[in-house]
Amino acid sequence: MSQRIKIKALLQTAPAEQEVNVKGWVRTFRNNQFIALNDGSTNSNLQVVVDFNNTDEALLKRITTGAAISATGKLIASLGKGQTVEVKATEIEILGDSDPEKYPLQPKKHSLEFLREIAHLRFRTNTFGAIFRVRNSLSFAVHQFFQERGFVYLHTPVITASDAEGAGEAFKVTNLDLLNPPKTETGEIDFKQDFFGKATNLTVSGQLEGELGAMALSDIYTFGPTFRAENSNTTRHLAEFWMIEPEMAFYDLDDNMDLAEGLLKYVIKYALEHNREDIEFLSQRLQEEEKGKPQQERSDMTLLDKLQFCLDNDFERLTYTQAIDILKDSTPNKKKKFQYLIEGWGADLQSEHERYLVEKHFKKPVILTDYPKEIKAFYMRQNDDGKTVRAMDILFPGIGEIVGGSQREERLDKLEQRMDEMDIPKEDLWWYLDTRRFGACPHSGFGLGFERLVLFVTGMGNIRDVIPFPRFPKNAEF
Ligand code: 4AD
Ligand code: MG
Repeated sequence: MSQRIKIKALLQTAPAEQEVNVKGWVRTFRNNQFIALNDGSTNSNLQVVVDFNNTDEALLKRITTGAAISATGKLIASLGKGQTVEVKATEIEILGDSDPEKYPLQPKKHSLEFLREIAHLRFRTNTFGAIFRVRNSLSFAVHQFFQERGFVYLHTPVITASDAEGAGEAFKVTNLDLLNPPKTETGEIDFKQDFFGKATNLTVSGQLEGELGAMALSDIYTFGPTFRAENSNTTRHLAEFWMIEPEMAFYDLDDNMDLAEGLLKYVIKYALEHNREDIEFLSQRLQEEEKGKPQQERSDMTLLDKLQFCLDNDFERLTYTQAIDILKDSTPNKKKKFQYLIEGWGADLQSEHERYLVEKHFKKPVILTDYPKEIKAFYMRQNDDGKTVRAMDILFPGIGEIVGGSQREERLDKLEQRMDEMDIPKEDLWWYLDTRRFGACPHSGFGLGFERLVLFVTGMGNIRDVIPFPRFPKNAEF
């Protein structure tokens, strides 16, 4: 038998009646004759034509939506529209049957909500095939970007005893008997008897360990899963998400912003070049979806336009203080249309404010810097004004915050003072403080939420649809 060829490659092969073999899953089977076959290598199906007069009736019945088959035949030019080549089958083998009565994925449009319930099968739809091929490309591009620049990929721990963000949103990790945990003399749970001899949790960020690496290797990045037990049921939050966290010695905040902007443009460009067909499909899908929305909620740009626009324009850079002035004077604030009104300096920005700045005011990606220290983590470098820190958030259209980062506080006294103010136990982070004792230097880093990036590039509306098996409150299926 001829060697199997993937459909993506086959569709680019010149037809010369050569014998080929393909394997994949049946999408549809029309008129006892035309199989639309997909093997996940491309969004396009291959048409396999069955000679039904010379094919066993029992076999024809088993060519059903969802079945896995192997087809051997001649590659010929296609007369039908929508494809240039097709396979005229001489032999069909059923590898795995799929009972059409029971198969949940019918050849019709299913809602994204329904598909989420059958996430084990949703890869087999055009939409999810495209999403996960784009996700794959983006993650490859992330590595390529950093590797080209001499960054070291560092694996930071998944189980840790620290809460890097100090937000108290970590999932606990324990092996203690929950019904009967050992107690200390004062009646508290005795974590000394736990597996690690102390209380541990799943990491919320690899940053603190990343900083340790950067203090020797200069430029490092992490790219791994992070976990947050925040009970937010939004279209932008997951309990388990992937984060890319570069950390660079000798970088100030401007260098940090340049790197982040460069990274985002690089990976978006990579996807546009390598996943054109998938992104065109997703762009089309979005346009269809938007037809169902009221006029003022529709976007005047297609997904492809939005991605290109992001590549062609510098991100707008301004301080938090400048942003607050814009928001205070904005129409939705004056007309009390914001759910959280901006009364003055110091307010934490909600996603409605971020989206106003990006989508209405500047109409392009925005980098906000120098936030009030009260609303940011302890490790950010303090500015001389005593009020703000060298933070940066990158805000994207339709997404809100996609990147959060900062220049780090490298001065031991300032860092310790801030930890005291924020009640962060210095003893637990002795190793982190050591980097400020031995060869401290200016350094910076950021975290890019990978699923928020995939959301942007695929034009999807819900973060649960861009990770294979989403984790969110009350859901850990699959
Ligand atoms: O802003 P965050 O919390 O920053 C940090 O964790 C820093 N330690 C990063 C660093 O400087 N190395 O998270 C960074 C990014 C956010 O901008 C967002 O894109 C994403 O991670 N993110 C989430 N994505 C999905 N679900 C969640 N629950 C997320 N929380 C944060
Ligand atoms: Mg943040």
